[in-house]
Amino acid sequence: MSEPHILITGASKGIGYQTALELSKRGCMVSAVARSADRLEELESNSPDQIKAYPADLSKPEQIADLCVKVSSRGPVDVVIHNAAGFISKRFEELTDDDWYELIEINLMASVRLYRNILPHMKPESHLVTVGSMGGYMGSAKFGGLSAYSTTKGALTTLSECLAVELKDRGISSNCLCLGAVQTEMFEMAFPEQQAPVSSADMGNFIADFAINGQKLFNGKVLPVALRDP
Ligand SMILES: NC(=O)c1ccc[n+]([C@@H]2O[C@H](COP(=O)([O-])OP(=O)(O)OC[C@H]3O[C@@H](n4cnc5c(N)ncnc54)[C@H](OP(=O)(O)O)[C@@H]3O)[C@@H](O)[C@H]2O)c1
Repeated sequence: MSEPHILITGASKGIGYQTALELSKRGCMVSAVARSADRLEELESNSPDQIKAYPADLSKPEQIADLCVKVSSRGPVDVVIHNAAGFISKRFEELTDDDWYELIEINLMASVRLYRNILPHMKPESHLVTVGSMGGYMGSAKFGGLSAYSTTKGALTTLSECLAVELKDRGISSNCLCLGAVQTEMFEMAFPEQQAPVSSADMGNFIADFAINGQKLFNGKVLPVALRDP
């Protein structure tokens, strides 16, 4: 793949920001998405020839459709890294319907709509990388307060496997990376007393590499990427 065009969501901070930066260092054309336009502009300023910011709220279906038209006008997309996610920490009996719908919209429906809108603009040998969580990995340790987050992340693993089957004939691979603890704002919200054993820069480095090369070795896989559970 020469100078792949990579669409990455959740690129304004944390793991997504570091992944986008790594991809630009590897010569990729990066289309970076999140709501925070200022943070995306700062990301873009690191490598303006390669990184282009596309501010969008992925919980809004019309913004996803518009985003995919704009990103594809830059050229066909080789890799999508869908990394954006929302997070709510509340015990199950305190979670309201609105809490559940909020996370279903951003953690599940945003992926459904993003992939549906961008797939017509993807070439054979391209790669969908869904960023999941160890919380949504079947059989992993579970934590109090994370039922809505972990359930929506679990749904993504199945979606990723199903897409691998349906897209096989088009030569498009689909893999899900279930991340363990990484030191970011989201981790601090989930586990304020703890220190994660992995930095967002190290995880960004790994995801960048996997996004470019992983489809040569994996398809339809749900892969734990974790030193330990938090
Ligand atoms: N950190 C960990 O320990 C850990 C563990 C397992 C899995 N993960 C997964 O790794 C991914 C990245 O997590 P992180 O820790 O880096 O989280 P983070 O620092 O909270 O970053 C989340 C990203 O998602 C974006 N986002 C959230 N809602 C959005 C919306 N409605 N529209 C567009 N973008 C939105 C945020 O940007 P804006 O606020 O600017 O929109 C931000 O760029 C997530 O999928 C998370 O579930 C993280």
